[in-house]
Formats: sequence, C-alpha cells, structure tokens
Amino acid sequence: MSATAAVLAAKGVALRYPGAPDPVLQGFDLSLAPGEVVSVLGPSGVGKSSLLRVLGGLQPPSAGTVSVGGTTLHDVHPRLAIAFQNPGLLPWLSLEKNVAFGLDFKRQPRLSRDELRQRVDEAISEVGLSHARRLYPSALSGGMAQRAALARCLARKPEVLLLDEPFGALDEVTRAEMQQLLLKVVADFRTAAVLVTHDIDEALLVSDRVLLLGGSPAQRIGEWAIDLPHPRDDHVSELGALRVEILTTLRAAIRRH
Ligand SMILES: Nc1ncnc2c1ncn2[C@@H]1O[C@H](COP(=O)(O)OP(=O)(O)O)[C@@H](O)[C@H]1O
Ligand SMILES: [Mg+2]
Repeated sequence: MSATAAVLAAKGVALRYPGAPDPVLQGFDLSLAPGEVVSVLGPSGVGKSSLLRVLGGLQPPSAGTVSVGGTTLHDVHPRLAIAFQNPGLLPWLSLEKNVAFGLDFKRQPRLSRDELRQRVDEAISEVGLSHARRLYPSALSGGMAQRAALARCLARKPEVLLLDEPFGALDEVTRAEMQQLLLKVVADFRTAAVLVTHDIDEALLVSDRVLLLGGSPAQRIGEWAIDLPHPRDDHVSELGALRVEILTTLRAAIRRH
C-alpha cells in the first residue's frame, strides 16, 4: 500500500524521554489502511503506551514522523481519537455532556448546535447508552463508562481510533461485549483502529493485523495478518495455531526484556 493511501503512517519513529539514557522506541514504521484494525501486543513496559501517544500526537517523536492523511502530525488531530483504560469521564458532567466534551477542543471544527446534538445522539446510540444519557459517571458501571468513553471518541467521527488497553479493567463478560462493540463501531463508522492490548485472544478476535513489540529500544519483532471473516468463533483451529505462534514469540521477548 502506498504511504499516501494510509490514514495514519509512522516512519522511522524513535522516542527517547528527556533525561533517560536509552530510547524507548526505535525505527518503528506503520502504515494503517482506512478501516484497518491493528493490535499491538508486547511485554509490559516495552513501550506500547508510549507508541500510542506518539501516534496520537500527544508525545512528539525524537526522530521520524507520524502523518495523518499524508500531513505530518504535530499535535492532537481532529481525525484521531484516543481512549485509555481509565475512561476519564468528568464526574460533574452527565454522560451526554461528557460525550459532547469530546467535540470541544482546539483543533476540532466548530459545529452548529443541531450538528452537535446529532453527533452526540448518534454516538451514544451506537454504543447502546441512549437510556443512560442523563446519568452521571458515578451511576455508570465500568462497562458503561468505557462505552461512554468510546462514544466520546465517536462523536468526533474519527478516521482512526487509538485505544490503549481500553477493556483491561473490565470483567470477562463485559470485555467480550466490548470487543463485539468495537467490531460494530469500526464497521458502522468505517474507522481504522490501533488497539494496544495484553490479551492475545482479544487481538486475534478483533484485528486484521497483529504487531508484536519487543526489545529495548522497542521494535516490531513479529507481525501476523489475521485474514479470517467475522465472527471468528468458527475458525478456532486457525486462531489456535496463530495463538501458539504469537505466544511463543511473546514469551521469547519477555525473557529478553
Ligand atoms: N512520561 C514518561 N517519562 C519517562 N519515561 C517514561 C514515560 N512514560 C513511560 N516511560 C518509560 O518508557 C518505558 C515504556 O513505558 P510504556 O510505554 O508505558 O510501556 P507499556 O505501555 O508497553 O507498558 C518504561 O520504561 C517507562 O518507564
Ligand atoms: Mg501501557
């Protein structure tokens, strides 16, 4: 795929935190196609969150470039939306006001009142929370709060969702529901996504491609295309084989880390 067709591209990205002796990331390349879902796996502390912050314009790389639609990224960008394990809802705002808040930042194009309401309604309905729109965060379960955080991203109609272990704190059943929701959202909103996760099964269920980060500084040490239709429950043997391969590479990376 040519770089210009990518919605998000990283070229030779390196990151060294100020004062740190060694870089965290080095020579990282990525070309994300429209609508593509890429999962990033790797040992704890390898640099997954750092990478996601660089891809989201929250952390400038110390070398290399990140570009969105062919333009170099220098700051947060209206075509990108980021969510973390902590939903980060503001406790003094209702769910719908929290979602609207996602549209209120410096580089987001200004919307009319009607457009704003429509965006917020659509996003809340997409994540199945229309009945809870007037509730405050303290009244939401962990799964509902994470749905609200996803709605806050969707209201911005992003081309790319950047997700850092978004379901990591949820119980298993809620987590499985959220994985299905992510697949629906990506299909309905035609967004691409980069999902940082420590869960190989999650990566295998939702992504088109899995990247494994390893080493210090972190680089891509493995890459697998998951060319299977959804739902993937019918492909247990193919997924099982991939799982073993990824796990073996991951274990070797953890031993070296
Ligand atoms: N803001 C920061 N300043 C300095 N060092 C950091 C910062 N954030 C992360 N690090 C360091 O970078 C490395 C990678 O961290 P991180 O990206 O959080 O890894 P992961 O998400 O894979 O667990 C760790 O050694 C961590 O201590
Ligand atoms: Mg992390």
